Order: sequence, then structure tokens, then C-alpha cells
Amino acid sequence: MKKPVIAIDGYSSTGKSSISKVIAEKLGLIHLDTGALYRGVTWFALQNCLEEKGTINLEVLFSSFDQIELEFKNDNGELILFLNHIDISKAIRSNEVSDNVSFVAKQKEVRDFLLQSQRSLAEKGGIIMDGRDIGTVVLPDADYKFFLTASIDERTKRRYHELLSLGIEADEQQVKENLIERDRIDSEREIAPLKQAEDAIVIDNTNLTKKETIEEILSHVKKI
Ligand code: C5P
Repeated sequence: MKKPVIAIDGYSSTGKSSISKVIAEKLGLIHLDTGALYRGVTWFALQNCLEEKGTINLEVLFSSFDQIELEFKNDNGELILFLNHIDISKAIRSNEVSDNVSFVAKQKEVRDFLLQSQRSLAEKGGIIMDGRDIGTVVLPDADYKFFLTASIDERTKRRYHELLSLGIEADEQQVKENLIERDRIDSEREIAPLKQAEDAIVIDNTNLTKKETIEEILSHVKKI
């Protein structure tokens, strides 16, 4: 039997990736956190494409795509992103990357550059992919689509504790502002904005634990 393709979209820090990871383990799927791809390109841009005033030069970035080699290493179903053979999984969580990623991700050239690698990973089925435009653009024919949301205060708390657990310094107010700003840019952009697919099941997990959110998703996957 062909394994399912599951799309999980939603607002920042609704737990999409950590929830997807557990579901992948339970159902024997692979998991791709597509936010890591946009963060990876942003990390590259911050290293290689800065102008004197410290802003990202988009023309330089767009002409550097052929210098970016993306590889995925399968770690028990979890696809870990390597960029030019470097494991950037921790570096892409930095505040600097978070502050710039939505600006980079709204560029058509960047989205085009990353689209094909996402789609080709889903060709054989058996994948859960989380992001902002998976159910609407990347995998519109996914077998199951979910859209996660939660209150801004709850999401701030989760992201703040996640950063501390990664050993990254954080200020709660700044974390909140970053989430609001990213959601705004992600929702308002012209190409592949953050939005709920018409056929997605919406889950507000403000008052749900991670375990409860996973159970809710699994109950639908079993039902359909
Ligand atoms: O998922 P995460 O919060 O790490 O994503 C970081 C950023 O990457 C998002 O705020 C958004 O700008 C961008 N992104 C996107 N499309 C996706 C996944 C992430 O534009 N499918």
C-alpha cells in the first residue's frame, strides 16, 4: 500500500515541526521541515550576500543559487538539511536568521529555487512535510492537509523556551514581535502566502498539549 503524503501548514511556533516528527515516527514516514530550507538560504545570504549597510543584496543572492548545494541526510526518518556539506541545523535557528527569513522567503526566485526539491521528495509518497504553503502550492494533492493555529501568547512561550533549550539567548518580547512580523510578511506576500488550504482541517492547539495535537491529527488520518 502506498504510504500517505501529509501536509501540515500553519502559523509560526504552532509546533508543526515537532508534531510532524512524532507523526512521521508513528506512521513510518519521512519528515521534511521546509522552514529549514528557507532558513538555510537566509543563512547563506547572511554569510555571502551582505551589502555594506548590513542588508541582504538580493541580486547577489539570486546569482549565487548555483553555489548552494542542498543535501538531506535521513536520520531515522528525519531529513536533516546540509548546505554545501555543512550541517546547519543549529545555525539556522539563530535570531539573525529568524529576523531575515521572511524577507528572503517572499522572493519569487527563492521560492522557485526551493520548490522542485520539495516536490521531488514527495514523489514516492510516505512523507509528512510542514511549512506555510505545502497544502496550497507545494503538494496541493496531498492525501491529508492540516492547518495549525494557536494564540500569539502561547506561541511566544513555546518559541522562547525552544530557544533557551537550544542554548540561544532570547528576550520574550522580541520573540513575540518576531513571530507577529513573520506571520504578517508570510501572510501578505504575493507568492504562496501563508494561508489555509480550502480542504485543510484546522486545529487550534492553544489549549492542547503536543500529545493531544498529535492524537487529533492521527484520528483524522485514520478516519479519512
Ligand atoms: O517553519 P519556520 O518558522 O522555521 O519557517 C521560517 C520561515 O520560512 C517562515 O516564517 C516563512 O517566512 C518561511 N517559510 C515559507 N514557506 C514554507 C516554510 C517556511 O515561506 N513552506
